[in-house]
Amino acid sequence: MSKPIVVLTRRWPASVEETLRGLFDLRVNLADEPWSRAELREALCTADAVCPTVTDPLDASVLDVDGMRARVLANFGVGFNHIDLDAAGRRGLTVTNTPGVLTECTADLAMTLLLMTARRAGEGERLIRAERWTGWCPTQMLGTRVAGKTLGLVGFGRIARAVARRAHHGFGMRVMFNTPHPPPADVCAALGATPCASLDELLASADFVSLHCPGGAATRHLLDARRLALMKPTAFLVNTARGDVIDQEALVRVLADARIAGAGLDVFDGEPAVPAALKSLDNVVLLPHLGSATQETRIAMGMRAVLNLQDFFAGRTPRDRVR
Ligand code: DGY
Repeated sequence: MSKPIVVLTRRWPASVEETLRGLFDLRVNLADEPWSRAELREALCTADAVCPTVTDPLDASVLDVDGMRARVLANFGVGFNHIDLDAAGRRGLTVTNTPGVLTECTADLAMTLLLMTARRAGEGERLIRAERWTGWCPTQMLGTRVAGKTLGLVGFGRIARAVARRAHHGFGMRVMFNTPHPPPADVCAALGATPCASLDELLASADFVSLHCPGGAATRHLLDARRLALMKPTAFLVNTARGDVIDQEALVRVLADARIAGAGLDVFDGEPAVPAALKSLDNVVLLPHLGSATQETRIAMGMRAVLNLQDFFAGRTPRDRVR
């Protein structure tokens, strides 16, 4: 019997591609450049499974293609806001993601950004590389102390909880969070985290705000000009979620006017484009969507997608089915 055809829209870690090659008729986008909508449509018409990433806009204009062959989209990543689930549903597609395996590394990266912004690490590094460092002095590049400060988490899923654990138990921070679905009190107590009734209240009281909500229409510009204005002028904003959760233009304005102290951003609205205005600001740390980018995690994400594909083609409900 012929093996199902599985298409990867990008290169995956070599060991995962090797595993997939043993199980399926594997086809890979060897150029590893994001595919156009036409190329994505072609993949949907020639494969039984398409394995996309965050760089593939699988919207209705792509998914409504004539001659669809694919039956499953096994996404490489936990976030799936680049896939129109309604359109996928209309086409009878099963959709899976890779939760759990990237929690720790993404939480590490949120803490990296928090510390880098507070301690002006990016700015300091640029100073040395530009040969502008003239030596230590008592007033040089003073940042903000992290210990004892209040961290406000927007969303309280796996990654936010891993950030809470690090912040509270590792850095002695007070942690508050806002979510429509708070966990039981014992979970909060173990993380030293307390629920905050409203997002506005959280924004007004936190010294650091870190975003951990899903992307998509429901959270687009959740942090708009009004909400950004609620933050303290001494507060920092960290985003490892999705770029469009923040109104990027409004963020540039509050940063440029020093109406907040700084921001650490791993994701951007319209990435990989990053507005020149953001790049020109010294009080921002900019990273190229590195949240899950460790050898271990990227292999684990790939292997999780393999399990979902195996489930699907064996007639079982994939463990990470999101549709
Ligand atoms: C994720 O897993 O959602 C990462 O942001 C990459 O898509």
